Amino acid sequence: MKLNIAVLAGDGIGPEITKQSIKVLKAVADRFDHEFNFEEGLVGAAAIDLLGAPLPDSSLDLCKKSDALLFGAIGDPKYDNNPDSKVRPEQGLLQLRKGLGLFANIRPVKTYDKLIEQSPLKSDRITGADLVIYRELTGGIYFGEKQTSEDGKSASDLCSYSTNEIERVAHLAFKSAQQRRKKLTLVDKANVLETSRLWRKTVTEIAKEYEDVELDFLFVDNAAMQMILNPKQFDVILTENMFGDIISDEASVIGGSIGLLASASVGGKCAMFEPIHGSYPQATGKGIANPVASILSAAMLLDHFELTEEADAVRKAVELSIKLNVCTQDINPDNHYTTEKVGDFLEGLISEIDNININNENLNLGQMTII
Ligand code: IPM
Ligand code: MG
Repeated sequence: MKLNIAVLAGDGIGPEITKQSIKVLKAVADRFDHEFNFEEGLVGAAAIDLLGAPLPDSSLDLCKKSDALLFGAIGDPKYDNNPDSKVRPEQGLLQLRKGLGLFANIRPVKTYDKLIEQSPLKSDRITGADLVIYRELTGGIYFGEKQTSEDGKSASDLCSYSTNEIERVAHLAFKSAQQRRKKLTLVDKANVLETSRLWRKTVTEIAKEYEDVELDFLFVDNAAMQMILNPKQFDVILTENMFGDIISDEASVIGGSIGLLASASVGGKCAMFEPIHGSYPQATGKGIANPVASILSAAMLLDHFELTEEADAVRKAVELSIKLNVCTQDINPDNHYTTEKVGDFLEGLISEIDNININNENLNLGQMTII
């Protein structure tokens, strides 16, 4: 398969982790005989500094003519600490989502046996947790009208949703539930918010088309608590933009490190694949950032084009690297590897993946021969 992949690596650790994903995707292309072409563009603080805009037209155009977008991270403390700044790096990401019509953000969360003990949550609560969050991405309070009064003493952000915006993401979430454990939980605040009541009504109506899927509802405050108390109860979570932003960061704790969580944003012609973590500016250039979330996002890219065997090879390589402890310091504090080394290891594994059995005898062998 031939794919043109736009790369917007962005700020902070974005460039160093994205570089590892490109390496892994190139190894996949070689191993499975595909042609992946990569073209880079600017976004975020990097783009503001050079071109004065967080998403220059040239970058949006690049994405529009590409099959997929590999995105790094966005954000820079010099803007976070200045509430008066008119341009902010994050605007680039929001413009990208809107400009490419990416209305659904998919965030899978699972646990790795090796990392269970590292989670701050008790192991019996999280062992076997496996859920996916479908977050609406181009509506709600993120995109509603924003105002600050002239005297600067009040401000407002409008939250609005149309049935159409709810329906299109809901269908994707129901279809995903049909392929999984057939349970969908709508997270909302229908006891208070009018928009949430519209979500409940619309989703209840759509559920009639998916009779094999069990639908239930949770208020977001309760959902936040349940996510920690008993994450195993969740299969597919469907929610609006802001609630999805918050509970997906919370859910990342279950996996042991936010450095492992991948995401896909779909809906338009060019889908986007990005780690859920931010730009982690304190770590920039130190070789300590975990590239796995970005690499697993690249696996979601492969899934998106139905390259399932290829995506499985990437996931299998990641699992092996975690078993072998070939990991960055967030999950392997005592004997860690650099961002680059983890990328090299995974790149090497992809080409060898058929010859490697994941059992304890081969683990050391794998480490000696490949590193
Ligand atoms: C995310 C991020 C973004 C969001 C920020 C960087 C604008 O937190 O993708 O979850 O709030 O959507
Ligand atoms: Mg977020």
